[in-house]
Amino acid sequence: MVGITADDLVGRVFLAAPLPPDVRFALAERVAAMPIPGKVGPPENWHVTLRFLDTVDRVTYERFLSGLARVGEQFSFPASLRDFGAFPNPRRATVFWAGVGRGSSDLSLLNELAEEAAVSAGLLPEERPFHPHLTLARIRPPVDVRDLLDEELDLGWRCDRVVIYRSHLGRGPARYEPLDEVDLIG
Ligand code: 2AM
Repeated sequence: MVGITADDLVGRVFLAAPLPPDVRFALAERVAAMPIPGKVGPPENWHVTLRFLDTVDRVTYERFLSGLARVGEQFSFPASLRDFGAFPNPRRATVFWAGVGRGSSDLSLLNELAEEAAVSAGLLPEERPFHPHLTLARIRPPVDVRDLLDEELDLGWRCDRVVIYRSHLGRGPARYEPLDEVDLIG
């Protein structure tokens, strides 16, 4: 049997909806004015994850990419960030996020199509339910963030593409390298 060598590995990848620069800047201003605990990720990293694939080999990656053809048949749509929330719950938060308002069902459809592409490519199904969000901070140990959830948010953009990123982990924040993108229609 032939084993997988390092050359066959693409790396740790995920599919996400990126934010346009103006929304990124506006969100960064809001976030800078809030006492968010933990490690706030750099604004250039902010995205709404549609499917996390983890470490994949070249064959799986190419199959996944081909399987995203149906994503490219979808229309672009208005999306917005509308509130703040936390996983697993606001009283003991380990992840602090901005939640999606408009476009939530469209993003869920993209998640379903990405899930089908991932499973067709040979990956295990994702067990966790999809909750469209944008992770702002990771918090260890957990902190009560209930006071931060009263803040309102309304930042809109047109979601017109999705991007496959490769995540480079190391010291400090991860670096997300765009590998491929699929444009939506319109
Ligand atoms: P998150 O936004 O909910 O934190 C890149 O690491 C992206 O992939 C992150 O935005 C993260 O989603 C998601 N991710 C990382 N590890 C994951 C895992 N084990 N399962 C599901 N999604 C993961």
